Amino acid sequence: PTSLDLAIVPGDGIGPEVVAEAVLVLQAVAADAGVTLATTEHDLGARRWHATGETLTEHDLDALRAHDAILLGAIGDPTVPSGVLERGVLLPLRFALDHCVNLRPSRLFPGATSPLDLDRVAPEGFDLVVVREGTEGPYVGNGGALRVGTPQEIATEVSVNTAYGVERVVRAAFAHAAERPRRRLTLVHKHNVLVHAGDLWRRIVEAVAGDHPDVTVDYLHVDAATIFLVTDPGRFDVIVTDNLFGDILTDLAAAVSGGIGLAASANIDPSQANPSMFEPVHGSAPDIAGRGIADPTAAILSAALLLDHVGLPDQAHRVTEAVAADLASRGSEPRGTSQVGAAIRARL
Ligand code: IPM
Ligand code: MN
Repeated sequence: PTSLDLAIVPGDGIGPEVVAEAVLVLQAVAADAGVTLATTEHDLGARRWHATGETLTEHDLDALRAHDAILLGAIGDPTVPSGVLERGVLLPLRFALDHCVNLRPSRLFPGATSPLDLDRVAPEGFDLVVVREGTEGPYVGNGGALRVGTPQEIATEVSVNTAYGVERVVRAAFAHAAERPRRRLTLVHKHNVLVHAGDLWRRIVEAVAGDHPDVTVDYLHVDAATIFLVTDPGRFDVIVTDNLFGDILTDLAAAVSGGIGLAASANIDPSQANPSMFEPVHGSAPDIAGRGIADPTAAILSAALLLDHVGLPDQAHRVTEAVAADLASRGSEPRGTSQVGAAIRARL
Protein backbone atom coordinates (compact mmCIF):
# COMPACT_ATOMS: atom_id res chain seq x y z
CA PRO A 1 0.00 0.00 0.00
CA THR A 2 1.07 3.62 -0.52
CA SER A 3 -1.24 4.93 2.18
CA LEU A 4 -2.68 3.64 5.41
CA ASP A 5 -5.74 5.06 7.14
CA LEU A 6 -5.97 3.92 10.76
CA ALA A 7 -8.60 4.33 13.43
CA ILE A 8 -7.01 4.75 16.84
CA VAL A 9 -9.06 3.82 19.89
CA PRO A 10 -6.90 4.71 22.91
CA GLY A 11 -9.69 3.71 25.33
CA ASP A 12 -9.25 3.51 29.09
CA GLY A 13 -6.56 3.35 31.74
CA ILE A 14 -3.10 2.78 30.30
CA GLY A 15 -4.61 2.43 26.79
CA PRO A 16 -3.82 6.00 25.67
CA GLU A 17 -0.24 5.82 27.04
CA VAL A 18 0.72 2.58 25.32
CA VAL A 19 -1.12 3.37 22.07
CA ALA A 20 0.73 6.69 21.76
CA GLU A 21 4.04 4.79 21.66
CA ALA A 22 2.69 2.31 19.12
CA VAL A 23 1.54 5.17 16.88
CA LEU A 24 5.02 6.73 17.02
CA VAL A 25 6.47 3.41 15.88
CA LEU A 26 3.94 3.17 13.05
CA GLN A 27 4.76 6.72 11.97
CA ALA A 28 8.47 5.93 11.90
CA VAL A 29 8.20 2.79 9.78
CA ALA A 30 5.51 4.21 7.50
CA ALA A 31 7.73 7.19 6.72
CA ASP A 32 10.66 4.88 5.89
CA ALA A 33 8.47 2.72 3.65
CA GLY A 34 7.07 5.73 1.81
CA VAL A 35 3.58 5.02 3.11
CA THR A 36 1.36 7.98 3.94
CA LEU A 37 -0.12 7.32 7.36
CA ALA A 38 -3.37 8.94 8.50
CA THR A 39 -4.65 8.37 12.03
CA THR A 40 -8.05 9.33 13.45
CA GLU A 41 -8.78 8.99 17.15
CA HIS A 42 -12.13 7.55 18.18
CA ASP A 43 -13.38 8.29 21.65
CA LEU A 44 -14.76 5.07 23.15
CA GLY A 45 -14.69 3.87 26.73
CA ALA A 46 -15.25 5.22 30.21
CA ARG A 47 -14.87 8.95 29.49
CA ARG A 48 -17.47 8.84 26.72
CA TRP A 49 -19.84 6.70 28.77
CA HIS A 50 -19.69 9.07 31.74
CA ALA A 51 -20.23 12.09 29.49
CA THR A 52 -22.96 10.71 27.24
CA GLY A 53 -24.11 7.32 28.50
CA GLU A 54 -23.07 5.88 25.12
CA THR A 55 -20.98 2.77 24.62
CA LEU A 56 -20.71 1.92 20.90
CA THR A 57 -23.22 3.35 18.46
CA GLU A 58 -24.07 2.46 14.86
CA HIS A 59 -22.53 5.79 13.98
CA ASP A 60 -19.25 4.77 15.65
CA LEU A 61 -19.26 1.51 13.74
CA ASP A 62 -19.84 3.27 10.42
CA ALA A 63 -16.96 5.62 11.16
CA LEU A 64 -14.66 2.76 12.13
CA ARG A 65 -15.60 0.74 9.06
CA ALA A 66 -14.21 3.50 6.85
CA HIS A 67 -10.63 2.82 8.01
CA ASP A 68 -8.12 0.24 6.82
CA ALA A 69 -7.52 -1.09 10.34
CA ILE A 70 -8.08 -0.25 13.99
CA LEU A 71 -5.49 0.04 16.76
CA LEU A 72 -7.01 -0.25 20.21
CA GLY A 73 -5.41 0.36 23.62
CA ALA A 74 -7.67 -1.04 26.33
CA ILE A 75 -11.31 -0.90 27.35
CA GLY A 76 -12.52 -1.13 30.98
CA ASP A 77 -12.56 1.13 33.99
CA PRO A 78 -13.37 0.66 37.69
CA THR A 79 -15.60 3.76 37.69
CA VAL A 80 -17.99 1.98 35.33
CA PRO A 81 -19.99 -1.05 36.52
CA SER A 82 -18.21 -4.28 35.58
CA GLY A 83 -19.12 -5.54 32.15
CA VAL A 84 -20.72 -2.34 30.83
CA LEU A 85 -17.76 -1.36 28.70
CA GLU A 86 -16.61 -4.91 27.96
CA ARG A 87 -20.06 -5.95 26.76
CA GLY A 88 -20.91 -2.50 25.43
CA VAL A 89 -17.75 -1.59 23.52
CA LEU A 90 -15.10 -4.27 23.15
CA LEU A 91 -17.21 -7.33 22.41
CA PRO A 92 -19.65 -5.47 20.11
CA LEU A 93 -16.64 -4.23 18.14
CA ARG A 94 -15.41 -7.79 17.67
CA PHE A 95 -18.90 -9.08 16.90
CA ALA A 96 -20.06 -6.30 14.56
CA LEU A 97 -16.82 -6.30 12.62
CA ASP A 98 -16.89 -10.09 12.30
CA HIS A 99 -13.57 -10.61 14.05
CA CYS A 100 -13.91 -14.35 14.12
CA VAL A 101 -10.15 -14.93 14.18
CA ASN A 102 -8.50 -13.71 17.33
CA LEU A 103 -4.82 -14.34 16.68
CA ARG A 104 -2.62 -14.38 19.77
CA PRO A 105 1.01 -15.28 19.18
CA SER A 106 3.19 -16.24 22.09
CA ARG A 107 6.86 -16.61 21.49
CA LEU A 108 9.74 -16.59 23.84
CA PHE A 109 11.90 -13.58 23.03
CA PRO A 110 15.51 -13.93 24.23
CA GLY A 111 15.82 -11.75 27.32
CA ALA A 112 12.16 -12.01 28.30
CA THR A 113 11.73 -13.30 31.81
CA SER A 114 9.53 -16.33 32.11
CA PRO A 115 8.43 -17.76 35.45
CA LEU A 116 9.14 -21.19 33.97
CA ASP A 117 12.39 -23.05 34.44
CA LEU A 118 13.09 -22.78 30.72
CA ASP A 119 16.27 -24.83 30.72
CA ARG A 120 14.20 -27.71 31.92
CA VAL A 121 10.79 -27.29 30.24
CA ALA A 122 11.65 -25.47 27.01
CA PRO A 123 15.37 -25.77 26.24
CA GLU A 124 14.66 -24.90 22.60
CA GLY A 125 12.31 -22.05 23.49
CA PHE A 126 8.80 -21.92 22.07
CA ASP A 127 6.82 -20.11 19.43
CA LEU A 128 3.11 -20.75 19.34
CA VAL A 129 -0.01 -18.97 18.25
CA VAL A 130 -3.48 -19.36 19.64
CA VAL A 131 -6.25 -18.90 17.10
CA ARG A 132 -9.13 -18.02 19.37
CA GLU A 133 -12.65 -17.84 17.96
CA GLY A 134 -13.85 -14.28 18.53
CA THR A 135 -17.56 -13.98 17.81
CA GLU A 136 -19.33 -16.93 19.43
CA GLY A 137 -19.09 -19.30 22.38
CA PRO A 138 -20.21 -18.29 25.86
CA TYR A 139 -19.40 -14.66 25.01
CA VAL A 140 -22.58 -13.94 23.07
CA GLY A 141 -24.79 -13.24 26.10
CA ASN A 142 -27.14 -16.11 25.40
CA GLY A 143 -28.53 -17.00 28.78
CA GLY A 144 -30.48 -15.63 31.64
CA ALA A 145 -31.26 -15.76 35.30
CA LEU A 146 -34.36 -16.99 37.06
CA ARG A 147 -35.48 -16.37 40.65
CA VAL A 148 -32.58 -13.96 41.14
CA GLY A 149 -31.54 -13.48 44.73
CA THR A 150 -33.43 -16.52 45.99
CA PRO A 151 -31.90 -19.82 47.09
CA GLN A 152 -33.53 -21.26 43.94
CA GLU A 153 -31.69 -18.93 41.58
CA ILE A 154 -30.70 -20.44 38.24
CA ALA A 155 -28.20 -18.72 35.95
CA THR A 156 -27.41 -20.00 32.46
CA GLU A 157 -24.75 -18.84 30.00
CA VAL A 158 -25.21 -20.87 26.85
CA SER A 159 -22.25 -21.28 24.54
CA VAL A 160 -23.23 -20.73 20.92
CA ASN A 161 -21.23 -22.62 18.31
CA THR A 162 -22.41 -22.50 14.70
CA ALA A 163 -21.06 -24.67 11.90
CA TYR A 164 -20.50 -21.43 9.97
CA GLY A 165 -18.57 -19.77 12.79
CA VAL A 166 -16.50 -22.79 13.73
CA GLU A 167 -15.64 -23.63 10.14
CA ARG A 168 -14.40 -20.15 9.31
CA VAL A 169 -12.04 -19.99 12.27
CA VAL A 170 -10.86 -23.56 11.76
CA ARG A 171 -10.11 -22.80 8.10
CA ALA A 172 -8.15 -19.72 9.11
CA ALA A 173 -6.21 -21.74 11.69
CA PHE A 174 -5.29 -24.42 9.15
CA ALA A 175 -4.22 -21.79 6.62
CA HIS A 176 -2.05 -20.25 9.31
CA ALA A 177 -0.54 -23.58 10.37
CA ALA A 178 0.22 -24.44 6.73
CA GLU A 179 2.42 -21.34 6.49
CA ARG A 180 4.48 -22.09 9.58
CA PRO A 181 7.57 -24.30 9.51
CA ARG A 182 6.26 -27.01 11.80
CA ARG A 183 2.72 -27.14 10.32
CA ARG A 184 1.05 -28.47 13.47
CA LEU A 185 -2.46 -27.74 14.64
CA THR A 186 -3.87 -28.63 18.04
CA LEU A 187 -7.61 -28.45 18.63
CA VAL A 188 -8.27 -27.59 22.27
CA HIS A 189 -11.74 -28.26 23.66
CA LYS A 190 -13.40 -30.41 26.27
CA HIS A 191 -15.42 -32.85 24.20
CA ASN A 192 -15.55 -35.42 26.95
CA VAL A 193 -17.94 -33.11 28.81
CA LEU A 194 -19.12 -30.42 26.37
CA VAL A 195 -20.30 -33.06 23.96
CA HIS A 196 -22.45 -31.00 21.61
CA ALA A 197 -20.07 -28.17 20.88
CA GLY A 198 -17.05 -30.45 21.24
CA ASP A 199 -18.40 -32.83 18.65
CA LEU A 200 -19.08 -29.97 16.19
CA TRP A 201 -15.51 -28.66 16.58
CA ARG A 202 -14.07 -32.17 16.24
CA ARG A 203 -16.01 -32.95 13.05
CA ILE A 204 -15.16 -29.62 11.44
CA VAL A 205 -11.46 -29.96 12.23
CA GLU A 206 -11.52 -33.48 10.79
CA ALA A 207 -13.26 -32.28 7.61
CA VAL A 208 -10.99 -29.28 7.03
CA ALA A 209 -7.92 -31.45 7.74
CA GLY A 210 -8.80 -33.26 4.50
CA ASP A 211 -7.91 -30.09 2.60
CA HIS A 212 -4.57 -29.79 4.45
CA PRO A 213 -2.81 -33.15 4.33
CA ASP A 214 0.45 -31.30 5.07
CA VAL A 215 -0.74 -30.13 8.50
CA THR A 216 -0.39 -32.52 11.46
CA VAL A 217 -3.45 -32.37 13.71
CA ASP A 218 -3.89 -33.39 17.29
CA TYR A 219 -6.35 -32.77 20.10
CA LEU A 220 -6.11 -31.84 23.77
CA HIS A 221 -8.72 -31.29 26.42
CA VAL A 222 -8.36 -27.75 27.72
CA ASP A 223 -7.31 -28.84 31.21
CA ALA A 224 -4.52 -30.96 29.79
CA ALA A 225 -3.53 -28.09 27.50
CA THR A 226 -2.92 -25.88 30.54
CA ILE A 227 -0.55 -28.50 31.95
CA PHE A 228 1.45 -28.72 28.72
CA LEU A 229 1.62 -24.93 28.35
CA VAL A 230 3.56 -24.96 31.61
CA THR A 231 5.47 -28.25 31.36
CA ASP A 232 6.22 -28.43 27.62
CA PRO A 233 5.19 -25.24 25.76
CA GLY A 234 7.51 -26.13 22.89
CA ARG A 235 5.12 -28.90 21.80
CA PHE A 236 2.63 -26.32 20.50
CA ASP A 237 2.57 -24.63 17.11
CA VAL A 238 -0.97 -23.45 16.27
CA ILE A 239 -3.79 -23.95 18.78
CA VAL A 240 -7.36 -23.49 17.62
CA THR A 241 -10.04 -23.15 20.26
CA ASP A 242 -13.27 -21.46 21.24
CA ASN A 243 -13.72 -17.95 22.59
CA LEU A 244 -13.58 -18.68 26.33
CA PHE A 245 -10.93 -21.40 26.28
CA GLY A 246 -8.90 -19.08 24.06
CA ASP A 247 -9.28 -16.21 26.49
CA ILE A 248 -7.95 -18.31 29.36
CA LEU A 249 -5.19 -20.08 27.43
CA THR A 250 -3.82 -16.82 26.03
CA ASP A 251 -3.40 -15.27 29.47
CA LEU A 252 -1.51 -18.39 30.50
CA ALA A 253 0.53 -18.34 27.30
CA ALA A 254 1.31 -14.67 27.91
CA ALA A 255 2.38 -15.37 31.48
CA VAL A 256 4.81 -18.13 30.51
CA SER A 257 6.30 -16.18 27.61
CA GLY A 258 7.34 -13.14 29.61
CA GLY A 259 4.20 -11.56 30.90
CA ILE A 260 1.10 -9.82 29.76
CA GLY A 261 3.19 -6.71 28.99
CA LEU A 262 4.44 -8.46 25.85
CA ALA A 263 1.31 -10.17 24.55
CA ALA A 264 -0.16 -8.81 21.32
CA SER A 265 -3.31 -9.74 19.47
CA ALA A 266 -5.08 -9.33 16.17
CA ASN A 267 -8.86 -9.50 15.75
CA ILE A 268 -9.28 -10.42 12.12
CA ASP A 269 -12.19 -10.57 9.72
CA PRO A 270 -10.74 -13.01 7.17
CA SER A 271 -13.35 -11.93 4.59
CA GLN A 272 -11.75 -8.44 4.70
CA ALA A 273 -15.25 -6.94 4.58
CA ASN A 274 -14.48 -5.10 7.83
CA PRO A 275 -11.31 -3.56 9.19
CA SER A 276 -9.38 -5.81 11.52
CA MET A 277 -8.47 -4.61 14.99
CA PHE A 278 -5.16 -4.88 16.81
CA GLU A 279 -4.83 -4.67 20.58
CA PRO A 280 -2.60 -5.74 23.43
CA VAL A 281 -3.95 -8.73 25.34
CA HIS A 282 -3.60 -6.81 28.60
CA GLY A 283 -6.36 -4.69 30.05
CA SER A 284 -6.54 -1.04 31.10
CA ALA A 285 -4.52 -1.57 34.33
CA PRO A 286 -6.22 1.31 36.18
CA ASP A 287 -3.87 0.84 39.15
CA ILE A 288 -0.93 2.18 37.14
CA ALA A 289 -2.79 4.38 34.64
CA GLY A 290 -1.51 7.91 34.09
CA ARG A 291 1.86 7.27 35.72
CA GLY A 292 3.84 6.68 32.56
CA ILE A 293 5.11 3.30 33.73
CA ALA A 294 3.03 0.89 31.63
CA ASP A 295 5.05 -1.26 29.23
CA PRO A 296 4.08 -0.30 25.65
CA THR A 297 5.69 -3.41 24.17
CA ALA A 298 2.43 -5.35 23.72
CA ALA A 299 0.86 -2.38 21.95
CA ILE A 300 3.94 -2.02 19.73
CA LEU A 301 3.88 -5.74 18.88
CA SER A 302 0.17 -5.35 18.11
CA ALA A 303 1.15 -2.58 15.68
CA ALA A 304 3.55 -5.08 14.08
CA LEU A 305 0.66 -7.52 13.60
CA LEU A 306 -1.26 -4.65 12.02
CA LEU A 307 1.57 -3.90 9.59
CA ASP A 308 1.75 -7.54 8.61
CA HIS A 309 -1.99 -7.68 8.06
CA VAL A 310 -2.17 -4.59 5.85
CA GLY A 311 0.56 -5.88 3.54
CA LEU A 312 3.70 -4.43 5.07
CA PRO A 313 5.40 -7.62 6.30
CA ASP A 314 8.91 -6.18 6.03
CA GLN A 315 7.97 -3.26 8.25
CA ALA A 316 6.24 -5.66 10.64
CA HIS A 317 9.43 -7.68 10.81
CA ARG A 318 11.49 -4.57 11.53
CA VAL A 319 9.26 -3.70 14.48
CA THR A 320 9.31 -7.22 15.88
CA GLU A 321 13.09 -7.37 15.57
CA ALA A 322 13.45 -3.97 17.23
CA VAL A 323 11.37 -5.25 20.14
CA ALA A 324 13.46 -8.43 20.25
CA ALA A 325 16.67 -6.39 20.35
CA ASP A 326 15.31 -4.17 23.09
CA LEU A 327 14.19 -7.16 25.14
CA ALA A 328 17.53 -8.87 24.73
CA SER A 329 19.27 -5.86 26.26
CA ARG A 330 16.78 -5.00 28.98
CA GLY A 331 18.45 -4.63 32.32
CA SER A 332 16.87 -4.54 35.73
CA GLU A 333 16.55 -0.73 35.69
CA PRO A 334 12.87 0.21 35.63
CA ARG A 335 11.97 2.23 32.52
CA GLY A 336 8.93 4.34 31.79
CA THR A 337 6.48 3.99 28.92
CA SER A 338 8.08 6.61 26.71
CA GLN A 339 11.60 5.36 27.48
CA VAL A 340 10.71 1.87 26.30
CA GLY A 341 8.98 3.30 23.21
CA ALA A 342 11.99 5.47 22.37
CA ALA A 343 14.41 2.56 22.91
CA ILE A 344 12.43 0.37 20.53
CA ARG A 345 12.22 3.14 17.90
CA ALA A 346 15.97 3.64 18.19
CA ARG A 347 16.43 -0.02 17.25
CA LEU A 348 14.24 0.08 14.14
C1 IPM B 1 -9.29 -10.16 26.29
C2 IPM B 1 -10.08 -9.61 27.44
C3 IPM B 1 -11.56 -9.52 27.04
C4 IPM B 1 -12.03 -10.91 26.67
C5 IPM B 1 -12.46 -8.89 28.12
C6 IPM B 1 -11.96 -7.53 28.53
C7 IPM B 1 -13.90 -8.83 27.67
O1 IPM B 1 -9.93 -10.40 28.57
O2 IPM B 1 -9.22 -9.50 25.24
O3 IPM B 1 -8.73 -11.26 26.42
O4 IPM B 1 -12.44 -11.68 27.55
O5 IPM B 1 -11.99 -11.22 25.49
MN1 MN C 1 -8.54 -12.07 28.29
